[in-house]
Amino acid sequence: MNKNIFITGASSGLGKQMALEFASRGYNLALTARREDILVDLKEQIQKAYKVEVFVLALDVLEYEQTQQAIDSAAAALGSIDKVIANAGIGSGGRIGDSGAFVQARDVINTNVVGAMATIDAATAFFRRQGHGHVITLSSVAAFRGLPGSGAYSASKAAISVYSEALRAETYDENIDVTVLLPGYIDTPINNSLKSRPFLIDLASGGRILADLIEKKVKRSTVPPWPWGLVARIIALLPTAVVAKTMG
Ligand SMILES: NC(=O)c1ccc[n+]([C@@H]2O[C@H](COP(=O)([O-])OP(=O)(O)OC[C@H]3O[C@@H](n4cnc5c(N)ncnc54)[C@H](OP(=O)(O)O)[C@@H]3O)[C@@H](O)[C@H]2O)c1
Repeated sequence: MNKNIFITGASSGLGKQMALEFASRGYNLALTARREDILVDLKEQIQKAYKVEVFVLALDVLEYEQTQQAIDSAAAALGSIDKVIANAGIGSGGRIGDSGAFVQARDVINTNVVGAMATIDAATAFFRRQGHGHVITLSSVAAFRGLPGSGAYSASKAAISVYSEALRAETYDENIDVTVLLPGYIDTPINNSLKSRPFLIDLASGGRILADLIEKKVKRSTVPPWPWGLVARIIALLPTAVVAKTMG
C-alpha cells in the first residue's frame, strides 16, 4: 500500500487536519509550511498518538525552486512519496481598483497559482522518476464564479483547477493520478473573519471528507460533495445582478 504523503501548508487549517486524519489512517507524513515550529509541535502530537513516521521541513511555496528539493528530501527520509497535496494558500478581500487591492491580488496569485504550480510541477517530475504517484490540488468552490470582493482568489482557484486538469490529460497514459478538490466553507483561519459562511462544516468533518475523497482518488469533487456539487453549479449560472446584490 502506498502510504507516504507530502503536504504543503500543514501548519494550519486543512493541511494540519489532513495530517492528523491521515496519521490516524496509518500514513507516514512529510509536513511543510513556513512556520516550522508549529510543524515540530504537530509532529510530536502525531507521534504520541499514532505509530507513523513524520518528517518536517520549512518550505515557502514562493521559493519556487526549493519545492523539488523538499520533495526529494522527504522521499529520501520516508523511502518514497506517494501523494503530494498542493494545499498551501492564502485568501484576501478587496475590490478591484480599491487602494492596495492589486498588491494583495498579486500575492494571492503568486501563492495560490504560481506556488501551487511549482508544487504540482515538482511532484509530477518526481512521480515520473519514481514511476507512480498521486497529485492533489486544493481549489475552491470560488473557482466556479468570479465572486465580487474575491476576484483574485476566485481567479487563482479557477487557474489551478484548469492547470491540474491539463496535468490529468498529460499524464493520461502514466501511472499518475490527479485529484482536484473544491471545498466550500470549512472552519479555518482563512475564512473565520467572513460575515457569511454558507453550509459551513467543522474542521474534523472537513478533514475526514477530504481524506476519503483523496483515498478514493476522485478526479474532481466539491467538499462536501453535497450540497456544494449542485449549489456551485447554480452560482455559476446566476445573473450578474443577483451575484452583485447578494454576494461579496
Ligand atoms: N477552509 C476552507 O473553507 C477552504 C475553502 C476552499 C479552499 N480552501 C483552500 O484550502 C487550502 C488551505 O486553506 P486553510 O483553510 O487550511 O487555510 P489556513 O488555515 O489559513 O492555512 C493556510 C496554510 O497555508 C500555508 N501557507 C500560506 N502561504 C504559504 C507559503 N507562501 N508557503 C508555504 N505555506 C504557506 C500556511 O502556513 P505558514 O503560514 O506556516 O506558511 C498555512 O499552513 C488553501 O489553498 C485554501 O485556499 C480552503
